[in-house]
Amino acid sequence: MDINNVKKELGTDWSGYQATLVSALCNSNEFVSKINNYLIENAGKQLRPVLSLLSATVCGEPNNTSHCCAAVSEMIHTATLLHDDVADDGNLRRGVPTVKAVFGQAASILAGDYWLAQALDLLTQCGEDVLSCFTNAVKELSVGELIQMEKAELLDTCKEDYYSIISKKTASLFIAAMKSGAISVGANPERLKAVEKYAYELGVAFQIRDDIFDYTPSMDTGKIAGADIKERKITLPLLCAMEKSSPEEARQVREKIALIENSLVKGGKVSDAERAIIDEVNLFVEKYDGIGQSQNILGEHGKMAVKALSPLPPSWAKERLVALAEYVGTREK
Ligand code: FPP
Ligand code: MG
Repeated sequence: MDINNVKKELGTDWSGYQATLVSALCNSNEFVSKINNYLIENAGKQLRPVLSLLSATVCGEPNNTSHCCAAVSEMIHTATLLHDDVADDGNLRRGVPTVKAVFGQAASILAGDYWLAQALDLLTQCGEDVLSCFTNAVKELSVGELIQMEKAELLDTCKEDYYSIISKKTASLFIAAMKSGAISVGANPERLKAVEKYAYELGVAFQIRDDIFDYTPSMDTGKIAGADIKERKITLPLLCAMEKSSPEEARQVREKIALIENSLVKGGKVSDAERAIIDEVNLFVEKYDGIGQSQNILGEHGKMAVKALSPLPPSWAKERLVALAEYVGTREK
């Protein structure tokens, strides 16, 4: 599936979203505009606004509020990445240097604050129910990142922790994007529940695919593979491999990762010894087919996403949501 074709099919709703986004971000200051333009020129797939508008379309007739919901989804997502690249010391995103790498840490945090503030400003026009979708997501995103930090210190992540982290740091914004889109067209409770469940499953599948990328250096994903272990993040491919190995082997792997200095303390540099540990963990994941197992789990979440759509009436938008569930599980970027 080509997500750009879906944008074309969304037609005036997609252009309405784009116009809303550009006008919400407009600022007379040259430095702010320079960073905004850098971000807009290097935009990603814009999956969240696509989901927001498809959700509105599958439940009714999209309107100006739906365009705002789509814009807010993308603005909050961008704000989180601007902050995340400071937290993770990320220098490459979407195949280009991050705002942190080009303009510096402080500029990245402050630009994130600006995008978040302008999103809040748009939300003042959208009513309380839409607002609460996004306040809940921002809370979940922050808590998810904090739990992830805590676990990077303790290195005791289990599968339950992993799902809690990815539900909060990724699925929560998918839910807000789709639920708000549905609310904007007055969807009934049954349809709201259906899009919420779909968004949750899709968000989980999306993050698992992202975590697989980190163990796949051969793929040109626009990110640097191996970064998760450098950041002491224990994700699904490693957890699956640990489950298949002996408890002793799993314990040894955790001990090895503990030798990696927390990147927040160290400023993200990888020493030769740490590179060797990352390579060893990669081999361990390969030996116990951590990627294959994760891909199977991801596939199950994709199926649950599609199943969740059953209360919704047939429409072209519903067909695209079904196709997106497949796309998210097999995407290469
Ligand atoms: C990317 O994950 C990061 C997120 C999905 C969420 C980041 C959230 C925050 C920084 C907290 C909330 C911030 C605001 C502005 C509300 P990743 O690091 O696993 O993936 P990556 O490889 O894309 O960096
Ligand atoms: Mg990151």
